[in-house]
Amino acid sequence: MQLTRASLQAVLKWLIYIVGMLPAVWLFYLAFTGRIGADPVAQLEWGLGLWALRFLIACLCITPLRQLLRINLLRYRRALGLVAFYYVLLHLSVWLWLDRGLDLHAAVQDILRRPYITIGMAAFVLLVPLALTSTNWSIRKLGGKAWSKLHKLVYPAIALGALHFIMIKKVWLIEPLVYAAIVLVLLAWRLLWPLIGNRRPRSARRVAST
Ligand code: HEM
Repeated sequence: MQLTRASLQAVLKWLIYIVGMLPAVWLFYLAFTGRIGADPVAQLEWGLGLWALRFLIACLCITPLRQLLRINLLRYRRALGLVAFYYVLLHLSVWLWLDRGLDLHAAVQDILRRPYITIGMAAFVLLVPLALTSTNWSIRKLGGKAWSKLHKLVYPAIALGALHFIMIKKVWLIEPLVYAAIVLVLLAWRLLWPLIGNRRPRSARRVAST
């Protein structure tokens, strides 16, 4: 049986979903078998939050990879974005369910009173319309231009996600700052590329934009 290019791409997309969710499966396994440390809920929350940020960063790497190295992974960006969203959703659910015990009143109080949770929630709210419009049907309904514009919400969402991480720690720690620096560079790249890209010879631009 010959594997066509399209079926290979479909297999790779499914691999992103399956492999992408493995850290979550592992974290839940460790938490529910008591092998994740003294405070399994907190460890689970942290692990899921961290993976959410990593997958959001992976999404933002797709465009520079194409522009700089001509590696075109655009067709896998949606799968990476959805995996990132699933992590944020799991992160939020663990907090709401295992940490806050589904006490909606206490959860709302937390969202209103604790700035790092307010910021995390704002990031989540920005990601919801992106996840909901991740289908081909939505692209057709909205039109490519409007869809692309809407999906630029990922920029403020990831910036808020990185800020949320910095604010949690209360002291300046290296890890959140490294993540924030990566996010900053990737966002700055979006602003700078139109200037750098236009200065390159026409032929190089043509190849990079395909
Ligand atoms: C894009 C959205 C979000 C991202 C990227 C994100 C990311 C993170 C990261 C990286 C951590 C720390 C992990 C560590 O310390 O190793 C964290 C912790 C946490 N996040 Fe989020 N988060 C997001 C949304 C939310 C939302 C919506 C909530 C709840 C409403 C939330 C509540 C928390 C809590 C309670 C912690 C643990 C704080 C503590 O140590 O006391 N996060 N998050």
